[in-house]
Amino acid sequence: MPDKYAVIGNPVEHSLSPVIHAAFAREAGHDIVYDRILAPRDGFRAAVLKFRDEGGKGLNVTLPFKHEAWNLSEPSGMAVDANAVNTLKFDGGRILGYNTDGIGLVRDLDQNLHCTVAGKRVLLMGAGGASYGVVEPLLREGPRELVIANRNLDKAQELVGHFRKVAGLDARRISWQPYDALPRARFDIVINATSAGLAGTMPALPEGVFAPLALAYDMVYGRATPFLKFAAGQGARTADGLGMLVEQAAESFFIWRGVRPATASVIAMLKGVSRGG
Ligand code: ATR
Repeated sequence: MPDKYAVIGNPVEHSLSPVIHAAFAREAGHDIVYDRILAPRDGFRAAVLKFRDEGGKGLNVTLPFKHEAWNLSEPSGMAVDANAVNTLKFDGGRILGYNTDGIGLVRDLDQNLHCTVAGKRVLLMGAGGASYGVVEPLLREGPRELVIANRNLDKAQELVGHFRKVAGLDARRISWQPYDALPRARFDIVINATSAGLAGTMPALPEGVFAPLALAYDMVYGRATPFLKFAAGQGARTADGLGMLVEQAAESFFIWRGVRPATASVIAMLKGVSRGG
């Protein structure tokens, strides 16, 4: 019997995770089954336990359940302070929780886009769950500064206060700003972790925030978001979140299977699919 995995979310029907993990398994020569589970909004815990009791080995968790997964599991590593878990591993009676989103972002920046975070000025837009998942991995790369911008300033302040207290992180490197007060600091990397792109809009980012050769990164994938169009018009290089999606999946596969799959061919394949090829 092949080992069973799945992605659980609501909605989940458009998730690319089954395609990605099938490609990883083929390449690694592993025999696995990977499904999608649509859990009712109030039925996450029951769906997870049912899958486990039926012999499931692990789950990827997507919206809106990442915080619930954190509560349900024993979080480890950077999941502890992310307050969110996107990977569950069933280990005997234990439910182990991991967050591979931030590692996925950092690997995509570093290895696929050849854009190291160390020494750079980084602007992260948004102070919701997507931002919580990536702040610690970004800070561990040693940026010159990490500025959080958010509409709701209380949430920005709360996020910054939260990560300033995490052991081993340099509290001086993280700060927050309202959009209309962004310094003309010329950021080298501007990351959109807001959900604005899904609604076809963008944060109120002023002009002039991109340094020469800056990278604009939108965690949303498969569409030219208003933010990426704006950034291209300002002369920035642009990338969507497809590479992050594949890299976070690779890290989950490694946690479950002990093998780190190659990602470049999977990213190329999915780019072809999203262009209709
Ligand atoms: P999640 O936890 O799933 O990320 P969330 O907590 O609702 O969801 O966070 C969504 C993020 O996108 C927030 O930072 C939100 O900004 P506010 O906290 O100011 O609401 C941000 N966001 C969504 N639409 C936006 C828009 N049009 N402009 C700017 N920020 C937006």
